[in-house]
Amino acid sequence: MIKPHGSDELNPLFIYDTEQRHALLKEAETLPSLLLNSAAAANAVMLGGGYFNPLTGYMNLADALSVAEKMHTVDGLFFPVPIVNRTDDTGVSAGSRIALRDPNVEGNPVLAIMDVEAVETVSDEQVNVMAEKIFRTLDPKHPGVATFTGLGNTMLSGPIQVLSFSYFQTDFPDTFRTAVEIRNEIKEHGWEKVVAFQTRNPMHRAHEELCRMAMEQLKADGILIHMLLGKLKPGDIPAEVRDAAIRKMVEVYFPPNSVMVTGYGFDMMYAGPREAVLHAVFRQNCGCTHLIVGRDHAGVGDYYGGFDAQTIFDDEVPPHALELEIFRADHTAYSKKLNKVVMMCDVPDHTKDDFVLLSGTAVREMLGKGIAPPPEFSRPEVAKILSDYYQALDA
Ligand code: ADX
Repeated sequence: MIKPHGSDELNPLFIYDTEQRHALLKEAETLPSLLLNSAAAANAVMLGGGYFNPLTGYMNLADALSVAEKMHTVDGLFFPVPIVNRTDDTGVSAGSRIALRDPNVEGNPVLAIMDVEAVETVSDEQVNVMAEKIFRTLDPKHPGVATFTGLGNTMLSGPIQVLSFSYFQTDFPDTFRTAVEIRNEIKEHGWEKVVAFQTRNPMHRAHEELCRMAMEQLKADGILIHMLLGKLKPGDIPAEVRDAAIRKMVEVYFPPNSVMVTGYGFDMMYAGPREAVLHAVFRQNCGCTHLIVGRDHAGVGDYYGGFDAQTIFDDEVPPHALELEIFRADHTAYSKKLNKVVMMCDVPDHTKDDFVLLSGTAVREMLGKGIAPPPEFSRPEVAKILSDYYQALDA
């Protein structure tokens, strides 16, 4: 099986031993507390589940700057995005042991315990340098930039012991998985070649067909549909609706035992190319050999070129930094001429009018009015779930 990133074995930071976890939760009640922001909490959940292997906690300022600048830590570990705990709270001292509290669960229960190795001040200029590298823009209207620049100017670094998976396990019991669980399931299936499909959307025909094409072209044993369950920008479709739509689509249109429908607890960054590389790192940690990267992967608005999230793997990811490979997908849409979903590069004789092309906004408007998008765009079963959601919104 493909090795995790940066080590032979996956090293999740969640404390699986129940007795030890209860003892740590008890200890946490005696420790000074820090209320995390959602980004730092999501980092803890990902570290807990082994997704960010081989990290052992939050990065310090030197590593964060180096990762933002060159995608590797000071010691040379390849990592695409700084994994940090930034805060406005200036009351924490280096050398202390603190309880990290969850901002996303009522009552702010303890999410993790941290041994604070360093407390450093990040200047606004350093924040901007990092944001520019990660997001390729400093436009405050970019949702990822807006979140990142507002995370606070104090950076706490050091190892953590994770004690909960926040709301993800309780709210998405059938879908939330850790990287450890996914690896184990892949092993149980006996799959060797596994393609991951990243998504933050319900899956329309193009998404569905991308999975099928990747599976066939790579002769893969299975597909991991791996949806983001964390926070999105306003207007994006909530996880439970996407989950229901995806499950229905898989149930009706894929052969049994060829697809794992799963999710992970992270907030969307909308960092396009850099987030695609992060996606690749954590899918390798899950045991996947390939990741589908299509058009405007993890993008937002028109901040990124349609295929920047593919070219970063040629231009900026050093050879052998990752074992996982990407499956490059061209713009995919239904061809009225051929009556099937195709990649545009495969049909050079087509013009724009030969495809069924609908913008996200047009689809939302149709669904809001109770009009189903054409079956060439959306499976009727998927359209029904989305239409029910949008109509309830408007009611
Ligand atoms: S993402 O932010 O999670 O990347 P989304 O769920 O829309 O967004 O896309 C999931 C994956 O499908 C990404 O790799 C994206 O590039 C790809 N994709 C979505 N729609 C298309 C399309 N029409 N053509 C090619 N690739 C697509």
